[in-house]
Order: sequence, then structure tokens, then C-alpha cells
Amino acid sequence: MAVKLKGRDLLTLGDLTLEEIIQILEYAQALKLKHYAGEAHKLLSGKNVAMIFQKPSLRTRVSFEIGLNHLGAHAVYLAPGDIKLGEREGVADIAKVLSRYADCIVARVFAHETVASLAEFASVPVINALCDTYHPCQVLADLLTIWEKKGEFEGLKFAYIGDGNNMANSLMLGCSAVGMDVSIGTPPDYEPNQRIVDMAREIAAERGGEVLITNDVMQAIEEADVVYTDVWTGMGQEKEAEARKKAFKGYGLNAEVLSHAAPDATLLHCLPAHYGEEITYDLIHDDPRSAVFDQAENRMHAQKAVLALLI
Ligand code: CP
Ligand code: NVA
Repeated sequence: MAVKLKGRDLLTLGDLTLEEIIQILEYAQALKLKHYAGEAHKLLSGKNVAMIFQKPSLRTRVSFEIGLNHLGAHAVYLAPGDIKLGEREGVADIAKVLSRYADCIVARVFAHETVASLAEFASVPVINALCDTYHPCQVLADLLTIWEKKGEFEGLKFAYIGDGNNMANSLMLGCSAVGMDVSIGTPPDYEPNQRIVDMAREIAAERGGEVLITNDVMQAIEEADVVYTDVWTGMGQEKEAEARKKAFKGYGLNAEVLSHAAPDATLLHCLPAHYGEEITYDLIHDDPRSAVFDQAENRMHAQKAVLALLI
């Protein structure tokens, strides 16, 4: 495994085979157990990672930095104003310079092309820590959480209600790869990218699953084993917030809507949440079906596995 992933980039889940996804999850579980047992696992002692962020972050930044600390590596955080990617300097120069200092580049960007060009020009692995199109690190943590809660993937129904955004795109790819049936319920005109839907359908066909895209929330959520939602207005879309609130009316999760899922459904949200829009506060904080904070914790375990394997 280490041989196969070493030196590679992680830009989208489409870069990983099913076998590689499962190996990352198994490694994440092993590292999580070591962490809980208080056993040192300084697998990246002496390594350095540059972290470029064009957008804000709580979970991604902190889980990468603290995860790298557990692994014995050092992280250098570069805030949006520090390097002014694309303004003060272009992507090629930044990628080539950082490759001379660091053993890996983690990047949170707007356009997917930015992280793809970083990977093209860098000679060290580049990890996509969210772009406008994908969020692969989040979905590895989500799959780890589903695996812990359900013990399997095959045959489960995964429902995502809300915006056909970067989360929906990456979830379609990741959940179909591990053999879940995927239902995405969005308002009209907010469906996920058709090219990524087609990709997910190809993956699902190989794995014996299905990918359904619908504007009918009830059809999407009916008997679902896992229910997921994300914000209606993502980072960089703030000007559309009011129009989106109108368009997404009726696409929020509350106790009544969730009652149409399987009784033992697992509820997930990548956070941050906009309470009273895509979900109610009580569902995330008080409902026994919520695994949202386990999910947030798993960001760290899943990313530690990715870092240890790629570097
Ligand atoms: N879920 C997630 O990526 O959170 P942050 O934006 O806080 O990193
Ligand atoms: N869709 C959200 C995810 C945040 C983790 C955004 O891009 O803002």
C-alpha cells in the first residue's frame, strides 16, 4: 500500500481505486487506535508540510496541523493574505518553490484548476483540502464514520439532501466507490455537476450500485441508512445567500423529514452548519442518530493515514 500511494497526489476521490480507499480507511482505524492507546506513531518524523489556504477553515486546518504533530512532522500554515496565490505570485512558482522546502503541499482553494496546477508543477504530493468542486479529505472521514457506525458499506442507501456542491460531488464518487446506493435530493437548478454524476454512475455500475438525482426530498431520503446535508451557501457564494434561502425552502432537515429515513439512520454533516437552514440545531446536537462530532474527529484520523501513505 505505502508503495502504491507514496508520492501520489490526492485531488479527487476519482484518483483512488476501491482497494486504495479501503486501505486508507484501515490505516486510519489503526492510527486512531494507536492515538487512543497513547502509543507514539511518529511516522513522519522530520518531515515538513506547507498548508496553503485561500478560504477559512476550522476542522481542516486544525486536524491537519494536530495530525501532523502526532506524526512527528511540522506544518507551516499559509493564510490567504500570506502568499496571495495568483496575485503576488503564480501557481507554478509557488509549487516549485514550496517543493524545495516541504515534503507535501496541502491546499484549500477556490478553483479546482488551482490545486490541479499546484500538483502539476510541484514535485511533492499535493492534497486537495477543499476546492469549489471537491472535498476528498472530508469524504474519507465520512466513509470512516459510516464504516464505524454500520460495519459495512455494500447495499446501504446513502442520501444527501441540499446543494449539489463540492460535498455532493465528492460524496457521489466516494459512496458509489464503496458500493452504497446514492440518492441526491436538490432543488431544481442546484443538481450536482453532470460530468461528475456520469462518473459516479460509471463507478456505481461496476460496484452494483445506483446514483439517483432527484428534486423530491422524500424520494431521496426514504429508508436511507445514512443521511447527509451541507450548507446551502458555501464559501465564496455569500452574495447568493438570500436567493439560495428561497430556492432551498423545503430542502432542510428536521425531525419530521428525518423520520422518513431508516429508524437507525446515521446523520452526518461536514460542518460548519447554518442552523435553521439546511438542518436544525437539535438534530446535530441532541439526536442519537447524529454522528457529526465523531465525523469531525475522524477528519484527523483519515488525514493522518493519507499523509503517512503519500509522504
Ligand atoms: N468540514 C470542513 O472542511 O470544515 P472547515 O471548513 O472548518 O475546515
Ligand atoms: N460546501 C461547503 C463545505 C464546507 C466544508 C463549502 O464549500 O463552503
